[in-house]
Amino acid sequence: MSDSPTFTAPGQNLVIRPFTTAHLPGALLLSQQVGWPHRLEDWALNLALSQGVVALDGARVAGTTLCTRFGDVALLNMIIVDGAMRGRGLGRMLMAAAMELAAGCEMRLIATPEGQPLYEKLGFHPTGQILQHQGISQGGAPALPVREGRAQDVTELARMDLAATGLERSDMIARIAGTGTVLRADHGFALLRAFGRGHVLGPVVACDTATARALIDAGARRMAGRFLRIDLPEGAGLSDHVTRLGLAHAGSGTAMIRPPCGPAAGGDFTTFALASQALG
Ligand SMILES: CC(C)(COP(=O)(O)OP(=O)(O)OC[C@H]1O[C@@H](n2cnc3c(N)ncnc32)[C@H](O)[C@@H]1OP(=O)(O)O)[C@@H](O)C(=O)NCCC(=O)NCCS
Repeated sequence: MSDSPTFTAPGQNLVIRPFTTAHLPGALLLSQQVGWPHRLEDWALNLALSQGVVALDGARVAGTTLCTRFGDVALLNMIIVDGAMRGRGLGRMLMAAAMELAAGCEMRLIATPEGQPLYEKLGFHPTGQILQHQGISQGGAPALPVREGRAQDVTELARMDLAATGLERSDMIARIAGTGTVLRADHGFALLRAFGRGHVLGPVVACDTATARALIDAGARRMAGRFLRIDLPEGAGLSDHVTRLGLAHAGSGTAMIRPPCGPAAGGDFTTFALASQALG
């Protein structure tokens, strides 16, 4: 990012700079301001996998955005403008910088209701809802065998994940598997890691719904009595199931894509839960 362009926002004492680890504490304050649960470690993982920009008001971080490229697809995420500075064009400027970083890629994001009007103006189209579920896990009883995987399984996990998502995410999977837990079934896998207020279960990638349920049940059992979050594509149809495990519906986001494209290729694997709203 050292050769990234620097912009000065017209009419404001703001400059846009490449996002570095030095900006993480300021970025954390912004995400706390909007009520997002990220810890410094969660921001650090996202930044390690991404390029991005910050808007600086002096030394203070007043806006953030990241562009996470996974092969030919870029995920735009962590787009936040300080509450006192909204409505002045800063969000649009940050998105323009992120889209420049994503040049040549298909772009995807998960929009909050606040962000969606801006993204629609920038040519993003909705593709479905993402349902955030969370709560104290009541445990689960997998109906199929689930075993603990190993960090060395990354190549195989990344192959299944690529088939489900179109994202080349071996680096992300290796990082999460290195600190979290890998759950394996005969026809799928799930990752469990510390995130936000507790843990997050995702991605959950499987050939069929029965395997996905078993992986989720195994994650819920492991987390019984503790705070667990899971982000489900609405079309995967597991919202009622996770609610029964103690994970209540806590909000929704809109998955968006640019440019619009046809139906997914329909491979052997499906994503039943996201790694996170930022990382897809
Ligand atoms: C979303 C967010 C980043 C937008 O930042 P901002 O600096 O206020 O955005 P801008 O001033 O650049 O406005 C962008 C455009 O969206 C439009 N817009 C914003 N809110 C709108 C709304 N509720 N309805 C219609 N249009 C809206 C603006 O009119 C503007 O259009 P224009 O550029 O054609 O004039 C900011 O509201 C925010 O940080 N929200 C909290 C965190 C969040 O939800 N982030 C999105 C994560 S996906």
